[in-house]
Amino acid sequence: MNIKELDKKYIASTYNRFPVTAVSGKGSLITDENGKQYIDMGSGIGVTAFGIADEEWLAAVTKQASVLQHASNLYYTEPCARLAELLCEKTGMKKVFFSNSGAEANECAIKAARKYAQDKYGEQRHVIATLAGSFHGRTLTTLAATGQDKFHKLFTPLTGGFVSFRAGQVEELKELNKNGDIAAVMIECIQGEGGVIPLEKAFVKELYEYCIENDILLIADEVQTGNGRTGALYSYMNFGIVPDIVSTAKGLAGGLPMGATMLGEKCENVFSFGDHGSTFGGNPVCAAAAINVISRIDEELLSSVKRKSEYILSALKGAKGIKGVDGMGLMLGIRTERDAGEVIKECMEKGVLCLSAKDKVRLLPALNIDDALLKKAIETIKQVCAGEEISA
Ligand SMILES: Cc1ncc(COP(=O)(O)O)c(C=O)c1O
Repeated sequence: MNIKELDKKYIASTYNRFPVTAVSGKGSLITDENGKQYIDMGSGIGVTAFGIADEEWLAAVTKQASVLQHASNLYYTEPCARLAELLCEKTGMKKVFFSNSGAEANECAIKAARKYAQDKYGEQRHVIATLAGSFHGRTLTTLAATGQDKFHKLFTPLTGGFVSFRAGQVEELKELNKNGDIAAVMIECIQGEGGVIPLEKAFVKELYEYCIENDILLIADEVQTGNGRTGALYSYMNFGIVPDIVSTAKGLAGGLPMGATMLGEKCENVFSFGDHGSTFGGNPVCAAAAINVISRIDEELLSSVKRKSEYILSALKGAKGIKGVDGMGLMLGIRTERDAGEVIKECMEKGVLCLSAKDKVRLLPALNIDDALLKKAIETIKQVCAGEEISA
């Protein structure tokens, strides 16, 4: 059996894969089993922050893997402690809990918020409010947090204690909190899976103030938007707010599984021994990879992310077949006249890998994508959106 047949026979059918077997890559180029090369405009759904097999990242990973690949959380390890220090220094957060994925980072954020509220106000104050259209993960608790019913069907009962309200509607939140049961509000400053939709700055500000006034913790889910993706280290930094808890994953370790939940001043000491844990969380190889990624997200890199974003926006503005582009930095959603699925399929055939988000073509390229490759990919996307044949 070939790879596709083996996959179909032995892997649970939860994914609708494209007919591409990714074999290797370098930077923003991926090669398939037939030797065909693609420009990677999705970076493994926002994960390979510095592309594939980036030399510096690879050196950090192999160096750590060759001395200690795992020790468990029974012992101290240097990469884990240094990464936590780096994250806290760069964000002003106070403590970090490491896990392995975005959903786990959010689970930890929810546990921290509930513990904070219940320690201070009693058990009744445990409700987490999230936004309609949000996406926070696939575990039963993060599904409950996800404000999209289509993900809930077939898996009820989900974890209780979650409510949702519409973006822009702080009044709805106030109504939901009339009994004072809300412990925390969790937001993505730019909804990713929900369709690459940035929240209005005025709404985020009003929400932030309401949370402060009522001692409701504000959790920023930076799983997709974090680690330089939007032109700031974390997207909340574009909105003039300081969340109490920040969760992140995806690009954090540049392609190795790692999640982090950062706790701010209010809840830095909320967890005590035994309150939470993870076998793999803070794994030294993943932590070494993340140190490499996070230490390279400096002002210079962030301004190049913004410059590349502006290039994409200006290249696509007013182009035939393109209704508009939403998002920030290198997290962009293109509204196309043609069906987005068809555009993505045709781009793939023409050697450019894109993602979807609802009815948009979503782009999450590596933060350091080469200018010439980016230009080539954008030209292809433009021509496919316009329904034009591409000249060789
Ligand atoms: C905003 C957000 N939160 C959480 C998750 C879940 O992350 P993971 O798939 O690593 O569990 C995702 C995944 O797409 C996400 O976009």
